[in-house]
Amino acid sequence: MVRKKVCVFISGYGSNLKTLIKNSRNYNFPVSINLIVSSSPNAKGIFHAKKNSIPYLIIDTKKRSFENILLNELKKRKISLICLAGYMRVISKKFIQNFKNKIINIHPSLLPKFKGLNTYNRILKNNEKKTGCTVHLVNSELDSGKILLQKSFFIKADDNLESLKNKTQKLEYKAFSEAIVNLYRYN
Ligand code: GRF
Repeated sequence: MVRKKVCVFISGYGSNLKTLIKNSRNYNFPVSINLIVSSSPNAKGIFHAKKNSIPYLIIDTKKRSFENILLNELKKRKISLICLAGYMRVISKKFIQNFKNKIINIHPSLLPKFKGLNTYNRILKNNEKKTGCTVHLVNSELDSGKILLQKSFFIKADDNLESLKNKTQKLEYKAFSEAIVNLYRYN
């Protein structure tokens, strides 16, 4: 099996990245993590790149040319799929066009409900009975691309921000990898 090359974009802690790296070590996993891109030099997730000797790039999103530099780098490294794992920057239409249907994101709600930020807060405020996570294709509208996979759980009366985040992220770790396996199942 020739593994597809994946680049993971992060901005923060990188717990999804950590799980993706771990799962990519599995013999049957269809992709390898070949590059990590961070929008911040302080992202904790960079640690996982260093620890696993995976090349990483820190991008300066204030520079206008950053997307062109990034696109060149991704093409040079023959990256076939980009996984957004807590990447907190907007991606331009042009960039998405260059990787059409090849960028996936993980979001901590059952989309189309609760697109955008402060998700857990809004879910609790809205007294939702059920929540979960969604892996979806990225298009030019926020959290609106085709849904690839969702996992859900029932919210308990004593759930709070922290417990909701913990439960959701546990599902995210499974969902992200499962969605990737499904993408390459017949290829
Ligand atoms: C994830 O929980 C995901 O839902 C959201 O950002 C969070 C990133 O967490 N898009 P981590 O950096 O993977 O720990």
